[in-house]
Amino acid sequence: MSPFRYPGGKAFLSDYLTKKLGLIKGQNKHYAEPFCGGAGAAVILLKAGFASHLHLNDADVRVYSAWRAMLEESDRFVERINTVSVDMETWQWASEIVNKSNLKEYDFELGFAAFFLNRTSRSGIIFRAGPIGGYNQTGNWKIDARFNAPALAGRVQWIGSVKDHITLTNEDGLTFLHRSLARVPVARTLFFIDPPYVQAGGRLYLNAMNDAKHIALSDILQNSKLRHWILTYDDHPLIRSLYGSQDISDLGVTYSLQNKRKEREVLIQPSLRQGGGPILT
Ligand SMILES: C[S@@+](CC[C@H](N)C(=O)[O-])C[C@H]1O[C@@H](n2cnc3c(N)ncnc32)[C@H](O)[C@@H]1O
Repeated sequence: MSPFRYPGGKAFLSDYLTKKLGLIKGQNKHYAEPFCGGAGAAVILLKAGFASHLHLNDADVRVYSAWRAMLEESDRFVERINTVSVDMETWQWASEIVNKSNLKEYDFELGFAAFFLNRTSRSGIIFRAGPIGGYNQTGNWKIDARFNAPALAGRVQWIGSVKDHITLTNEDGLTFLHRSLARVPVARTLFFIDPPYVQAGGRLYLNAMNDAKHIALSDILQNSKLRHWILTYDDHPLIRSLYGSQDISDLGVTYSLQNKRKEREVLIQPSLRQGGGPILT
């Protein structure tokens, strides 16, 4: 459903998140992702009608620009998908744009370049990854292997058609959570939080988190009025200790990196003992 490919994307949790949304009382449930990336699960929940509004946020201006371009300039985006040459020349053009160091603001070209690289680079990594099929295009798969233009255009068109149901921001995830307390209907909003790993294995995407921020995030989640949240992380001692009083379960995730490395992840939710939401198994 999402136009993005994302390493470690969480679309596979959509059934579980649907159940969690179902436990929240009231109509018109909202769903928020402070570290949205490809927002794989979010898009499924909106399309199926389980969430009536999405709040998507990503600190990376490349990811943000891609989403904003799809939402606000969807016809232009679809036109580009349908007419772009999926070849090494375009790949080089896109790489130059996303690797500029002074990227700060929304820009359509930046958004399209980020999307293009996501669809044509190994493992969907937006920056510093090679093209599918290699620089000489001698691999079994070629650069256009994951660029099915009609299907992608359809997804973007749909996203444009539901833009009134999606609020997009480009903030730090912690700022987003603080502001959410006043900005969203907290009692009927499910927050799904999928931050960068504590121990980042490689630069899969922007990692604007350090230990202090991981600790600050745990404070917001455990000591604020955010009632309904689900968190996923790498299985790291810092996380086990910060969330020791919450409900932690194992979650295996296979990253589609070249070596198919299997990362151990955990899923954390408020424990019943802490007065949090009901635990699902
Ligand atoms: C693990 S990915 C999220 C993947 C997403 N759940 C999916 O299914 O596609 C983490 C995302 O957080 C973003 N990010 C990194 N540091 C951030 C920060 N401090 N605040 C907000 N977003 C951040 C990255 O740009 C990346 O897109």
